[in-house]
Amino acid sequence: MRQDNHSSNLDFVLLGVNGPQEQEDIFFILFLFIYPIILIGNLLIILAIHSDIRLHNPMYFLLANLSCVDIFFSSVTIPKMLVNHIVGSKVISFGGCLAQMYFMIDMANTDSYILAAMAYDRAVAISRPLHYTTIMSPRACVLLVAASWVIGSANALPHTLLTASLSFCGDREVVNFYCDIASLLKLSCSDIQFNVKMMYLGVAVFSMPFIGIIISYIRVFSTVLKVPSTKGVRKAFSTCGSHLTVVSLYYGTVMGMYFRPLTNYSLKDAVVTVMYIAVTPMLNPFIYTMRNQDMKAALGKLFKKRIST
Ligand SMILES: *[C@@H]1O[C@H](CO)[C@@H](O)[C@H](O)[C@H]1NC(C)=O
Repeated sequence: MRQDNHSSNLDFVLLGVNGPQEQEDIFFILFLFIYPIILIGNLLIILAIHSDIRLHNPMYFLLANLSCVDIFFSSVTIPKMLVNHIVGSKVISFGGCLAQMYFMIDMANTDSYILAAMAYDRAVAISRPLHYTTIMSPRACVLLVAASWVIGSANALPHTLLTASLSFCGDREVVNFYCDIASLLKLSCSDIQFNVKMMYLGVAVFSMPFIGIIISYIRVFSTVLKVPSTKGVRKAFSTCGSHLTVVSLYYGTVMGMYFRPLTNYSLKDAVVTVMYIAVTPMLNPFIYTMRNQDMKAALGKLFKKRIST
């Protein structure tokens, strides 16, 4: 392992996968390829939605917001990782570490609540189509999005402040690609009982939207089973597949991350972390455009406009 002789005793060390050099190189190359795809894919989604008037409805505004969060989410961790690998350093300042932790919790929660808002949107569209425009009014839509951002920050702030007040006396090596709360708690020499309780509370706040998503989809499926042949219902239902795929990917990886013993971090955990911070944000744009004619048309128009100007 390389030693950083310029690291102060307040800095933390991001060990990444903590394996042989070849493993580290593989993860570096992976992130190097995935990160631009995340940026371009999600930016295209936002541009396509905003430039096509037919996509100016709640479902697509929520999708654009999800893309926006995904860009922030992956930018909190991946650039730092790439830069550290290039300059051959593993150091991250204590402030940088806390900032990473704050924004990761913030963005993960915002992501989670926006996914729930999207499920709610589909549930209203399918089970109460006549009231859709009144329930999902522009104002309601802005409120849902704003609430997602507020809950994200509100859930991130206490954990960050609590972690900032801990003492770190010995080991400052984080065995992960970024400073996550569990790794930091493990390194502290203070009494962390309260922090751990708060962390579980935080995971509960994070998971609440998942229950909302399940309830929304129970409503969706019971409606579709009752009136399977209505054209409007079928069209609305066609977008549910993409959303369900994203939801399963997202919560699947989160569960893979948090329901593991905190003591040993293996290559398998590293792969799950990569799924969480890179693969999910990368796949979202593809999942939503693949079988969606409206999105494809909007993207096509976007490119034509760019070429002609
Ligand atoms: C997020 O959603 C709001 C409310 O619908 C919308 O006005 C805004 O344009 C969206 N943001 C993005 C980046 O699309």
